[in-house]
This record gives sequence, C-alpha cells and structure tokens, in this order.
Amino acid sequence: MDQNTPSPGQKPDSLYAKSRKVVPPFEFDQQVANVFQDMISRSVPGYALVLDLIGLATAQYSQMSTNCYDLGCSLGASALKMQQQAAANCKVIAIDNSSAMIEKCKQQFTHLGLTDQIELHCQDINQTPISNASVVVLNYTLQFIEKPARAPLLNKIHQGMCENGVLIVSEKVRHSRTKTQDLLTNLHLDFKRQQGYSELEIAQKRASLETVLIAESEKEHLHRISNAGFSEVSIISKALNFTTFLGIKA
Ligand SMILES: C[S@@+](CC[C@H](N)C(=O)[O-])C[C@H]1O[C@@H](n2cnc3c(N)ncnc32)[C@H](O)[C@@H]1O
Repeated sequence: MDQNTPSPGQKPDSLYAKSRKVVPPFEFDQQVANVFQDMISRSVPGYALVLDLIGLATAQYSQMSTNCYDLGCSLGASALKMQQQAAANCKVIAIDNSSAMIEKCKQQFTHLGLTDQIELHCQDINQTPISNASVVVLNYTLQFIEKPARAPLLNKIHQGMCENGVLIVSEKVRHSRTKTQDLLTNLHLDFKRQQGYSELEIAQKRASLETVLIAESEKEHLHRISNAGFSEVSIISKALNFTTFLGIKA
C-alpha cells in the first residue's frame, strides 16, 4: 500500500471537524477505521519514512522460515512492508484488537491479493503468543497499552524471538524538560495545521487522546527495551516528538 494512494473504502479524515459538546475518549472504531490512512499520515510526522525503515530492517533481519509480527496492525501498513521484504518462507502475522480495523485490513489484503500471505487476527496483543520471531514491530501501538502491561509485553516478545531478531517500536514521546516539550508540541501543532487540520479539529482530537495515549520519555523506552533483554538498543528515526527505537536479541 503506497501511503499516498487511497486504499479501498478509505475517506479523508474530517472526524473532528464539527464541534462536539462532549469529546469522548478516542477509540479505534468504525469511524476511525474508515479514515485511518489519512489520519495517521497527516498526524504523525515521518510516518512514511518509518514504514520504509520497517521494510529495510525486515530485509536485513528476517530469517528463513521464521515469523514476523505486526502488533497493533490497524490497516496493515507495517505488515505489508514486512511481507514485501521478508526472507523466504517467513510467515507475516498481523494482530489488532479492533474488529473494525481488522475488517478494513482484510479488505486491503483482499484488494492486493495477499490474504494467503499475511495471517490476520483480531486479538489483544497482551494475549498473543510470540514464537520463532525474527522481526517484531509495534508501530505506535505500545502507547495505547496500559503502562503496567508494557514491560511484560516486551519481555514476552524477547522470549519468543530468535537469536539476531529485531524489535522495532515507534512511539509518540514526551520530553522530560517542559520547555523542550512545549517547543516540540508547538511544532507538531504547526505540522498538523500544515496538513490542513483546523484549530477545532486539532483541539478536539487532542482532548480525545488525552487519557488514551500515554506517552513516555525516550529514556523510559530505552530502559524498558534494554531491560527486556535487547541489545544495540538505539533510535533509528526521530521527527519532532515521534521516535522509533530498535533492539536486537543477541
Ligand atoms: C496508532 S495505531 C497503529 C498503526 C499501525 N501500526 C501502522 O503502522 O499504521 C494503534 C493500533 O493498535 C491497536 N491496539 C491498541 N491496543 C491494542 C491491544 N491491546 N491489542 C491489539 N491491538 C491494540 C489499535 O486498535 C490500533 O489499530
């Protein structure tokens, strides 16, 4: 899926364009699934680059006859990159707990003739068994997992990975210095304005995510990934407050 090409059934994101009396907490429901490709491309600076990096890392680290997991796959953008670059006989497994996302994702894969090549499951990733994995991707998903469950999830992933496997985690992060955090936030707001979002859309979306997306600092992420047992833990991409981490199972 080319991020600039609309996928079947996808619409432009105008979910927050009308004023709402009450802004409910953000959910990955049918309405969001219908516009998600446009929403994520216009909200996350560097999103397309990160997808390309996932493809490159898959080409380099996937091993023959192993599993590659896309955890929190939404419409399957990362899974597609993995499928295109994976070593021979790899199984790409894409998981999401939103039935609306899984349904849309299935439509994408059917449209691309890939239903036999990518396994799709509607499941809580905290419950997903990980085994024989050479590539595991959490692309902007960990931030939606309850904080106490994040370390156990990474520990489980590490246990289920092969030697020399790669973990990629992308997150919205927050800076520990208030002044720097404000600077990054303001630039992100400008990015969204430049993408055509109105002040009302930006404010309402922000309010809806407030209690749902729990951002942590880069330091917390680096520690957690290292503590799970990964080595060579590093940042491979950073655009404003959106960071992608990589770790290798030695
Ligand atoms: C920001 S989106 C991920 C975007 C996607 N990885 C990509 O690269 O385009 C976060 C996704 O994680 C899913 N998610 C959140 N918590 C989950 C959980 N506990 N189990 C499975 N999926 C989850 C949401 O339904 C949503 O589709």
